[in-house]
Amino acid sequence: MPVTLLDLVRQFEWSMTAAEVAFGHGTDNAFDEAAWLISHAAGIDLGAVDELPWDEPLEPAVVETATALLKRRLDTRKPLAYLINEAWFAGERFYVDERVIVPRSHLGEWIVERFEPWIEPGRVGSALDLCTGSGCIAIALALNNPDAVVTGADISTHALAVAARNVALHGVEDRVRLAEGDLFGAVGGERFDLVVCNPPYVSNELMRDMPDEYHEEPPIAFRGGVAGLDIIDRLLRGAADHLDEGGVLVVEAGSASAALEAAYANVPFTWLASEGGDPVVFLLTREELIRYFPS
Ligand SMILES: C[S@@+](CC[C@H](N)C(=O)[O-])C[C@H]1O[C@@H](n2cnc3c(N)ncnc32)[C@H](O)[C@@H]1O
Repeated sequence: MPVTLLDLVRQFEWSMTAAEVAFGHGTDNAFDEAAWLISHAAGIDLGAVDELPWDEPLEPAVVETATALLKRRLDTRKPLAYLINEAWFAGERFYVDERVIVPRSHLGEWIVERFEPWIEPGRVGSALDLCTGSGCIAIALALNNPDAVVTGADISTHALAVAARNVALHGVEDRVRLAEGDLFGAVGGERFDLVVCNPPYVSNELMRDMPDEYHEEPPIAFRGGVAGLDIIDRLLRGAADHLDEGGVLVVEAGSASAALEAAYANVPFTWLASEGGDPVVFLLTREELIRYFPS
């Protein structure tokens, strides 16, 4: 009896669950991760299909390749994205390897919506993506705002090499520039309509409890200090000087969101509700930043 895609996905789902692998690098459950892994082995372009061919029989060679890949996933505990050098973000495929964190920011949902209704359509002519890593946010911003010029900045030379590869992959060299430096230090005195950032925000305590898969990623992408707020604090104090009149700052605060609210109880953060989860992305206008974080 030939093995169909659905048969093998169910088998792999069982194996991953039994092996207690951790998810969170593009998928959040064993079924979806198995479907991604086998689709890759079968050469299915996930960006080009609406529905996977669940009932199609798989070639024996595909089953063999997928089984070897599953073994590597279970043995090494590396995120699948690193094993296949592929991650999906805001509906686009990106190249990834161990030099960058695997793209999964909640900012993706808002980038495809162009941050409406908080930002007027067509308002963003220039944007800065701080802590750009693989460049996924900068590139997705450029793709969703065809008139915008975007700068992606990071302190890591290694991450920027991956970002450059993705800029070329998406053919946006004319509108996405990459800059190296410590937060706003990468862009001198430049100002933008929009500054976005998915910063390192994991507290020292949470760093110690992360599953194996997360320890395969660069620690510099996570380290947020005692409460997770070290980089976010600096963003809040520096952003107004890099925003044009009417500009906004949008930041993912993730697991540090509660600590942030507690630390700045007087600040009227606008939390962007995310699909099926607690809001972990906040927005502040330039005016609010000037008022609450005067330089
Ligand atoms: C959570 S990752 C986000 C990567 C990417 N934007 C994404 O969403 O997938 C944080 C990134 O911040 C960078 N980073 C850490 N400290 C930094 C600093 N002081 N200045 C600039 N970038 C920094 C890391 O190299 C890493 O690429």
